[in-house]
Amino acid sequence: MIPQSFISDLLNRVDIVDVVGRYVQLKKGGANYMGLCPFHSEKSPSFTVSPTKQFYHCFGCGAHGTSIGFLIEYSGMGFVDAVKDLAQGVGMVVPEQDDRIPPAQRAQMQAQSLALSDAMTQAAEYYKMQLRQAPAAIGYLKGRGLTGEIAARFSLGYAPDGWDNLRSVFRDYDAPVLAEAGLVIDKVDEEGRRLKRYDRFRERVMFPIRNTKGQVIAFGGRIMEQGEPKYLNSPETPLFSKGHELYGLFEARQAIRDAGYVLVTEGYMDVVALAQMGFPQAVATLGTACTTTHVQKLLRQTDNVIFSFDGDKAGRRAARRALEACLSHVSDNKTIKFLFLPAEHDPDSYIREFGAPAFEQQVAEAMPLSQFLLKEVAADFDLSEPEGRARVQFEAKPMLQAMAPSALRLQIVRGLATMTQSSPGEIEALCELSKPVAEVRRAPPRSARPEPMGLELQIVRHLVAHPALALEIDESGLAAFDSFGPEQSERLRQLVSAARALGPQGNFASLAMHLKEQGNEYDAIITEISSESAESDFEADRQYVASAIRQIKLDALKAELDQLFTSGKTAAEIGDRYREISAMQDQLRKEAEVGLPGR
Ligand code: GTP
Ligand code: MN
Repeated sequence: MIPQSFISDLLNRVDIVDVVGRYVQLKKGGANYMGLCPFHSEKSPSFTVSPTKQFYHCFGCGAHGTSIGFLIEYSGMGFVDAVKDLAQGVGMVVPEQDDRIPPAQRAQMQAQSLALSDAMTQAAEYYKMQLRQAPAAIGYLKGRGLTGEIAARFSLGYAPDGWDNLRSVFRDYDAPVLAEAGLVIDKVDEEGRRLKRYDRFRERVMFPIRNTKGQVIAFGGRIMEQGEPKYLNSPETPLFSKGHELYGLFEARQAIRDAGYVLVTEGYMDVVALAQMGFPQAVATLGTACTTTHVQKLLRQTDNVIFSFDGDKAGRRAARRALEACLSHVSDNKTIKFLFLPAEHDPDSYIREFGAPAFEQQVAEAMPLSQFLLKEVAADFDLSEPEGRARVQFEAKPMLQAMAPSALRLQIVRGLATMTQSSPGEIEALCELSKPVAEVRRAPPRSARPEPMGLELQIVRHLVAHPALALEIDESGLAAFDSFGPEQSERLRQLVSAARALGPQGNFASLAMHLKEQGNEYDAIITEISSESAESDFEADRQYVASAIRQIKLDALKAELDQLFTSGKTAAEIGDRYREISAMQDQLRKEAEVGLPGR
């Protein structure tokens, strides 16, 4: 876990205008900067970046967030990577558990990863150059329908025939880094002594694999004739892990945004051929089953994922694995679909044989996850027998358990209930589902607190805009919140403690990010604040919150006073309390006149 205080410091230190400016052309317009929104296509700019709020906001599509959020959305980096990236830019070091690693060792690790990345870049350049001088390889790619433009887009290359071509590329062919990068193979004897070193990739068409930053981290090499193996991949290295990377994701990022979905295939050639045929929004797993990390990466780029599989047994198995990898990520604002091509086809061969419109049709008819799941669990059993229906429920149990409670899970539960002649409630009980959705519907869900209104809303808004104000609210101020009602008071107290946790440097951007992680309760307010064109003045807001809290206290005192004489207390008790209340009222009114903060 990266401490929240570090995130606040970081967001104070980096300038969102610089960060966004690296990717989007920005023009100054008043207090803010404007540009074309990178998250939807538009012709006139509705994307604004506020240097004072350190927040971006698009009036067109509603996208908004902090520098960290921008990097995550734009580049598909994970949270930790985005934080690291920004920290590096402003010379901050992210505190981590691996702080226990001695600095010298850490520096060495960093140097190694730089050296690896350097070697991969040089090799990629070399292979790319070689392709130009390799008529056979060019012929092969042309034969598979690819133009030079697409080859350039994917930086395709060629590793020529010969055992040590890389000797001409690297100053020191014996350097350990070349083996660590998987570019060469060391032949060793039984004692582990190196006998001979040779190039891993020979006489193959080369597909560089990039990470989300665009750096080459691995290669896939295809043989041109018949032979084994058909594809040779880089081994796992400190830069590359098959279960985490997707081929073509870097190249497809913009296209995924434009299309509104990503198409996940199984092969390098599928990605390249689909791009050639007008589907640049495709990526591929790297000869492995789809993992939850893959799914997570994909869902960071888009809310719509379509997997494509061959219609044969192997395709079906792969689809089942992908389905399982998806379950924990299913939510109501995401759509995951499965497309099954005729058995003898992959996307490459299908689109070549039947053309782009036919493929488009296949995409449009892809099967939603819910339907695929129900089909899968029922596939092998006889629903006309009680035993068969019970087996289906048994099959579905772990899958439903892997899903978070959501409306979609409830839909699947309903489908399963109908299919197996049960009720949704029975399925949820039988599968021991966490927070059964069908049951909960009777009681109002806890998350749906009443919307803040009036004075309460104003306090919430001011605290979100200026979290540091929370530090000025004392115990009696918190107690005053109780008069809004128990749920409202709880919300305000939670908000105050979240805002306080950010410390005196706490800002809108980091609080907004924290609140978003907790759910969508504050989305409307965050959107409103981030889209306000005028800056609110901290001092004025501080006065406002103080006077609002005074007002609540006065209201509460007045309510108590109204009831005091009918409260059933003794005359003496009433007299004492009357004097206390009057004194407190005087005190509050005096503070109001002086304009002191409400303490
Ligand atoms: P083409 O035959 O060139 O159209 O390739 P393809 O992508 O259709 O290949 P296929 O469907 O046979 O395999 C899908 C993916 O599995 C490939 O893109 C590779 O990532 C991987 N793969 C295929 N064959 C091999 C192999 O022999 N070795 C390894 N390591 N991976 C392979
Ligand atoms: Mn193929």
